[in-house]
Amino acid sequence: MKRNFIIIILTLSSISVLRCAELITLNTNKLSTVLEVDDKGRLLHRYFGNKLVDTSPFLSKMLYRTTEYGTPNEAYSTMGGKNFREPALRITHFDGDLNTELQYNRHERHFDNEKGIEILVLFLRDKKYPLEVKLFYKAYYKENVYVMYTEITNHEEDNVVLHNYYSFYLPVDARQYYLTHFYGIATTEMSVEEIRLTHGMKSIETRKGIRSTHSENPSFLLSLNNPMNENNGEVIAGALAWSNNFKLNFELDEFNTLNISAGINPYAGEYHLATGKSFVTPPMVYTYSSNGSGDASRNLHDWARKDGLYAPTEIRPIVLNSWEGVYFDFNEQSLKDMIDGAAYLGIEMFVLDDGWFGNNYPRNSARMGLGDWQVNRKKLPNGIDSLAKYAKNKGVKFGIWIEPEMVSPESDLAKRHPEWIVKVEGREAPLRRNQWVLDLSNPAVQDFIFNAFDSVLQLSNDISYIKWDANRHIESVGSSWLPADRQSHFWIGYTEGLYNVYERIRKKYPHVIIQVCSSGGGRVEYGSLKYHQDFWASDNTDAFSRAFIQYGSNLIYPAIATGAHFSHVPNRHTKRIIPAKFRMDMAMTGRLGFEMKLQDLTGEESQNLKKAIKEYKEIRDIIQFGDLYRIVSPYDESGYYALMYVSKDKRRSVFYAFCLDYKGYLSTVNFKLNGLDDNKNYTITELNNPKPVFWGNGKTIKGDFLLKEGFNPQLQNIYQSIVLYLEASDSNSEIISHKPVKKP
Ligand code: DGJ
Repeated sequence: MKRNFIIIILTLSSISVLRCAELITLNTNKLSTVLEVDDKGRLLHRYFGNKLVDTSPFLSKMLYRTTEYGTPNEAYSTMGGKNFREPALRITHFDGDLNTELQYNRHERHFDNEKGIEILVLFLRDKKYPLEVKLFYKAYYKENVYVMYTEITNHEEDNVVLHNYYSFYLPVDARQYYLTHFYGIATTEMSVEEIRLTHGMKSIETRKGIRSTHSENPSFLLSLNNPMNENNGEVIAGALAWSNNFKLNFELDEFNTLNISAGINPYAGEYHLATGKSFVTPPMVYTYSSNGSGDASRNLHDWARKDGLYAPTEIRPIVLNSWEGVYFDFNEQSLKDMIDGAAYLGIEMFVLDDGWFGNNYPRNSARMGLGDWQVNRKKLPNGIDSLAKYAKNKGVKFGIWIEPEMVSPESDLAKRHPEWIVKVEGREAPLRRNQWVLDLSNPAVQDFIFNAFDSVLQLSNDISYIKWDANRHIESVGSSWLPADRQSHFWIGYTEGLYNVYERIRKKYPHVIIQVCSSGGGRVEYGSLKYHQDFWASDNTDAFSRAFIQYGSNLIYPAIATGAHFSHVPNRHTKRIIPAKFRMDMAMTGRLGFEMKLQDLTGEESQNLKKAIKEYKEIRDIIQFGDLYRIVSPYDESGYYALMYVSKDKRRSVFYAFCLDYKGYLSTVNFKLNGLDDNKNYTITELNNPKPVFWGNGKTIKGDFLLKEGFNPQLQNIYQSIVLYLEASDSNSEIISHKPVKKP
């Protein structure tokens, strides 16, 4: 008997059962993260998913992967110990040792009750050296979103070198993995691609420094077991908040575990961390849903409208931007005409784009003038203030464009401060769009940019909007400010410099709206958006292309921040002649704006726009603060794109449908709505159509019917579109049966 007992104990210990020392759980309203401190003092990742009522079985649940072949699922993987995966942390210690083995020390919990956030801080330390790592997990209770980042502190005898220093590490187990990610350049931003991950490594990254989201976006949706579906299946979605080189790795190992690491791109970025110093990695925002990608997006949107955007609870105004209307070719009168047009239509903000500055090197084209932020006296002899006042008198607010990180070779600034330009001595500094980048790692440049911003705001007390542009990326990297052996700090130095300027600006100008633009959507990420109210999604204002750009953007970023402008067609980027209604309907799915001269519109068009703007004002709170439900993806082979927003109380909703590719009248589709209350009766009103055509216009239909059967709005030709407003009424429901498709 005694013998048997001993055998059982040995067997249990040899398969690692009953060895957990401690479980550490961090919950949100619907989700749980479970970590384990094992008997060796390692911090392991055990669970991320729907909320667990009882986590204690983890204490006896066998860890299959602790055999001699495997790599344990650490909470923050390092190079060292038994790790063969891409390490989240890779360090060369002061004496050249390449290994790091993190040991759990203790943890703390902090609460921000006002915001509904719980912060878990785990204190880890290398087994051999006094190298400390803190893991921060912030749990946003109501939004079901986590944010992870780390702090690395060097208490060793001398400097250490950080090679990999990712913010985020997450091991995931599923049968199959489907990765949705984003690619594109100016005019094709946020194009969506879904791939099934195979074994090995797939990375999403940029090395461009600026315009960092013109190629890939630091965000993803990962569907487990099956391809992405709006309403079903497990999805992990994430976005890195960093405005420079990033890298997201998806490494599927030989055990079919997917190891996700994400953070600053290690590319040419070795970071020397001096003794006594700490480095904090940027935040990674992520969520999980077992109800498909729609739910995951809504979680991220809710988080963004709490903590991800600047001034997240303020309604965004309707903007008229001068760029596509006049480009560089304007004078005071033509701008006043635009302001008159804005006032007539009910537009709330006029933004004067590029071309208003420079005297020795006047900015009449993209050839010169960047850096000389003084009003061009020839073009605008009465200055900015008189224009801003003119707008104010018309009831329109005033905004202005800047590109403060850049300098033209032909500018006073470039002559005065050649040492501020990003370049390498003895190598040519390549031009893009005839401009160079200022070295923001240099504190003198940070001061210059802050002062430039400040001086532009001093041009008038009535400037309430800034469009912050950045029209090139960084190559041939070199800083005359950074020492020769710290050139690899440039990327971080630049970004920290940028954030430092933003902080100073936000302290002095808390109420100014600042739009982020980088040749369109080249800086669409949560590092920038923390300081900005909205982003310019693309210079491509073609309404057909916009279906894809805005759909992609809104998988991760909310509509309230998505600059979507109605423009005149054809224009520089837009050759397709699409009806004004379709263009306006598409712009109304985001933060509405305009790019045109009023003179370019027909009388009928301007009447219709005026009415649509009025209608948008009445429903924009639903678009900007409601829940997004994607009904049909523009990538769907049906040729339709449909979406809707539903107010949080489910009483009001806006539905949109667009025909992108008409496949014959027999192929028109029925759209089942989503997000409504099945018990409420909704009265339907067609918007932006002087002669409503929808058969259900004015009718009251039960939510149950709209959700289960839906309707066919009969868009029977390419570029037809419809916008419907649904409002819950207390009247009895009149169930309208689905009408057959009429022959065109
Ligand atoms: C690029 C932006 O994307 C455009 O909207 C416009 O502001 C131009 N720059 C101005 O140079």
